[in-house]
Amino acid sequence: MDPILSTAVITGGASGLGYATARYLLARGVNVALLDISEEQGNQCIVALDSDKARFFKVDVTNEGDVKHALQGAQNTFGQLGLCLNCAGIAPAMRTLDKGGQAAPLDKYRQTIDINLLGTFNVSRLAAEIMAIQSPNNQGERGVIINTASIAGYEGQIGQTAYAASKAGIIGMTLPMARDLAPLGIRVNTVAPGVMGTPLLLAMPQAVQDGLSSNVPFPQRLGLPDEFAALVTHIWKNSYLNGETIRLDGGLRMPPK
Ligand SMILES: NC(=O)c1ccc[n+]([C@@H]2O[C@H](COP(=O)([O-])OP(=O)(O)OC[C@H]3O[C@@H](n4cnc5c(N)ncnc54)[C@H](O)[C@@H]3O)[C@@H](O)[C@H]2O)c1
Repeated sequence: MDPILSTAVITGGASGLGYATARYLLARGVNVALLDISEEQGNQCIVALDSDKARFFKVDVTNEGDVKHALQGAQNTFGQLGLCLNCAGIAPAMRTLDKGGQAAPLDKYRQTIDINLLGTFNVSRLAAEIMAIQSPNNQGERGVIINTASIAGYEGQIGQTAYAASKAGIIGMTLPMARDLAPLGIRVNTVAPGVMGTPLLLAMPQAVQDGLSSNVPFPQRLGLPDEFAALVTHIWKNSYLNGETIRLDGGLRMPPK
């Protein structure tokens, strides 16, 4: 196997889209390092994956030391870092002014930007530092970074100022990061999912799921985590995709609420 396609580091890898992608890649022979702040979920995932090709590292994506330690650990274990997939994120809702006229709490806004935007940049820059000194494959590639934004980065809904701004920031930094890293043979792309059927959503009553699906033009359902994983895998393997954000949303354009 091409060494650049042999190992993936996945933040937010202990849940939802990150974990689904880890499972998908592992089933295709890829080594996976799950980086997540939740040790309990991370350990459960490792038990469920039951493979010596999977490792968990407890990481807060906003913390430089945590991330350096985990990336180094993943490289020591598996040899190369081919893919860095940033999935860690939070999505708190808060209106600019609440119904009583009270201004939104600034600390919650800051935390959302910190985890979603700064965390994505922190992990990407440290992964790039490692990729930059790896041997290139026969396409001249040293690694691939894939970020996870959201269609809220384009059409944020009521209560999503912080989340939408953090995701718009990820979309905005995709091209400049791709340009920064192009001379090193490192590509950078972003996926902007719509409404995806992660386990949390799939555990909700069918009526709630139907409500969420009803605005999706076609197919009129939630996106499948495996559809996200398949797109990530394609971006990783397709050397000509660079500096782009791809929507994965069944044609959905978010209404105000
Ligand atoms: N599920 C959707 O419908 C959807 C839609 C659009 C975008 N997204 C984006 O996809 C990504 C994954 O979403 P999901 O639905 O799988 O969410 P999830 O809540 O299932 O998983 C997110 C993971 O990130 C981890 N995490 C949170 N803060 C962290 C930190 N500081 N350091 C390390 N790990 C941290 C959590 O522990 C969790 O395991 C998020 O960035 C989300 O914004 C999801």
